Amino acid sequence: MENQIFLDKDADLKVLENKKIAIIGYGIQGRPQALCMRDSGLDLIIGVGSKTRSSWGAAIEDGFEPVSIEEATAAADLVYILLADPPQPEIYYASIHEHLKPNSTLAFCHGFNVLYGAIKPPENVNVVLFVPNGPGHTVRQKYLDGSGIYGAISVEQDVTGNALDMVLALAKSVGSLRVGSVGVTFQQETEGDNFEEQVLYGGVIHLMKATFDTMVAGGYPPHFAYAKAIRSLRTVVDVMDEIGIEEYISRRSSRTCEFAVRKSGPRVVNYEEVQKIFDETERGEFAANWMQEWTLGMPRLHRMRRTGAESKMEQTGREWRENFGKG
Ligand SMILES: NC(=O)c1ccc[n+]([C@@H]2O[C@H](COP(=O)([O-])OP(=O)(O)OC[C@H]3O[C@@H](n4cnc5c(N)ncnc54)[C@H](OP(=O)(O)O)[C@@H]3O)[C@@H](O)[C@H]2O)c1
Repeated sequence: MENQIFLDKDADLKVLENKKIAIIGYGIQGRPQALCMRDSGLDLIIGVGSKTRSSWGAAIEDGFEPVSIEEATAAADLVYILLADPPQPEIYYASIHEHLKPNSTLAFCHGFNVLYGAIKPPENVNVVLFVPNGPGHTVRQKYLDGSGIYGAISVEQDVTGNALDMVLALAKSVGSLRVGSVGVTFQQETEGDNFEEQVLYGGVIHLMKATFDTMVAGGYPPHFAYAKAIRSLRTVVDVMDEIGIEEYISRRSSRTCEFAVRKSGPRVVNYEEVQKIFDETERGEFAANWMQEWTLGMPRLHRMRRTGAESKMEQTGREWRENFGKG
């Protein structure tokens, strides 16, 4: 199934008919995905850590009757873990592992904890992965629009012989097979995600900051620099996605822009560093660093957040949104 593209025609929701689906965690992904699944006719039970968690109230607000994670797991034929990744192992061993029914299906939305061994599912359950490639609210919006977010699916353990059908039905129920989902391994999904977040999100965000800081230091008005650093990119990314990068550069942008992109763009990207980050990720070093950071209470993240929030660019962004709105 690796690299295979799956569409609606490849999946049948019937495989989940008369099956109870436990949604464990009702946050950024859990809530929107659960709403889509309910609209697709699946029978859901929502498991939340405790009544004091904000997810409990959110589930009630949406018309569900949340129960404890133990109760939801014990009742379910398919348990879909949508908890934040770092606390997953502790919650899994305290409330899920021993309550899983034999021959049930354990689904994840990210392969991190299984790949790195923090969660070792029992041998008598299916272990699958489905992840839509986008934030939860977009998953929901696209579903309501009759479309979906493309996703990745994987089967790590198949004890019933139809684990692939189960995970395809899951993907179909949130709209991800309307546009296509690709088969990957748990390793590819996890390391690919960690690599993309470091290089692409990290790189682009810091490039935007460098563009802004350099222009402001060079005497440009901050609002002008802000528009250059963020807004101009926003307007072209969708076009490149729709028609392709080459078509955009050579036909939709100006010839000056094309020359600028082709001549100076490559100087900005350090391929050696990109490769280093790729290798560190493959060796599990990024995962180890992140787990250590989480265990210590995220000291570096809190410090970097503070510095980021106080930056000139953030301040300008707030003014920009007040003055220019969505224009
Ligand atoms: N966010 C994304 O866009 C995205 C994209 C693709 C895949 N994923 C994957 O989706 C999964 C869920 O991620 P998410 O972003 O949806 O996570 P999240 O919103 O941060 O948290 C999800 C749920 O975990 C609960 N939770 C967090 N800490 C807990 C604790 N100590 N005890 C009990 N419950 C706890 C939260 O409860 P409260 O709300 O009550 O705190 C919430 O219900 C992860 O595997 C992630 O990698 C996320």
